[in-house]
Amino acid sequence: GLVRKPSNFVSSISDDRGDELTYAGVPISQVFKQDLGIGGVISLLWFRRQLPVYATKFIEMVIMVTADHGPAVAGAHNAIVTARAGKDMISSLASGLLTIGPRFGGALDAAALMFMEGVRSGEDAASFVARMRNEKKLIMGIGHRVKSLKNPDQRVVIIKEYAKKHFSSTAVLDYALEIEQVTTQKRSTLILNVDGCIAACFVDMLRSCSAFEETEVTEMIENGCLNGLFTVGRSIGFVGHILDQKRLKQGLYRHPWDDISYVNADDA
Ligand code: ACO
Ligand code: LMR
Repeated sequence: GLVRKPSNFVSSISDDRGDELTYAGVPISQVFKQDLGIGGVISLLWFRRQLPVYATKFIEMVIMVTADHGPAVAGAHNAIVTARAGKDMISSLASGLLTIGPRFGGALDAAALMFMEGVRSGEDAASFVARMRNEKKLIMGIGHRVKSLKNPDQRVVIIKEYAKKHFSSTAVLDYALEIEQVTTQKRSTLILNVDGCIAACFVDMLRSCSAFEETEVTEMIENGCLNGLFTVGRSIGFVGHILDQKRLKQGLYRHPWDDISYVNADDA
């Protein structure tokens, strides 16, 4: 019989060989006929299935709330400085994206895993916080530089309210909020931040859809799908900042000497 040549490359999300491009088997014309939107496209290409409308709407909300947070944050700052050094769009964008990580915008997957494990093990929030402190670990998804109990983050309010209204259970969000109750007793800035809130609600959303096995949910998160969402969202803002700097004809940035403490090597 025929012996098939073994392939060197495996792919399972899209196919452009036929008459029509497909996303997870759905022809591109159907994507538009059914008005799946960017949330539907993400659910096809990332999760390989069509999620219900309340879930695709939620994905779109995440993209919208993470799109930008002003020029002062680490990533926008890098993108701006790079654009002002005369670099092109892609280099400036890449420079901004490279700041996304455990302190800025890239805490989502780790936060989701921490909160899921807390819910799974039944450890109460106070013990969770105490244990993390003893282990000298930061709780991912907790803490903000400028947002606090007195200056709440409207993005978090929007996401929380949607989850409460549309998901069959918000067990992970509720657990994260219990953690916030404990951490904010220490310091009012130790709130559930936008990364942590999206992370907790996303797990609740995936579980509400019943479209995934529990092991699949964990695997997708371990593979970085939630930080991927922040990255896609914030790319919108970074591109905006880069275009803005070019439009405003901003020249090379040099940080002012008077804003740098020059310390002796021996003192540092
Ligand atoms: N868990 C436990 N304790 C914390 C946390 C946390 N996540 N964050 C700060 N603390 C504690 C610190 O240990 C420190 O305690 P100490 O005074 O006893 O030493 C105190 O709070 C102040 O810490 P700072 O590092 O000065 O806090 P800062 O405001 O600079 O940090 C940051 C803000 C970077 C967001 C921090 O809270 C953090 O790393 N959080 C976890 C990562 C995270 O969720 N990042 C996403 C932020 S939202 C976004 O980027 C879109
Ligand atoms: C952001 O969305 O960039 C922020 O929450 C981080 C910040 O410091 O504002």
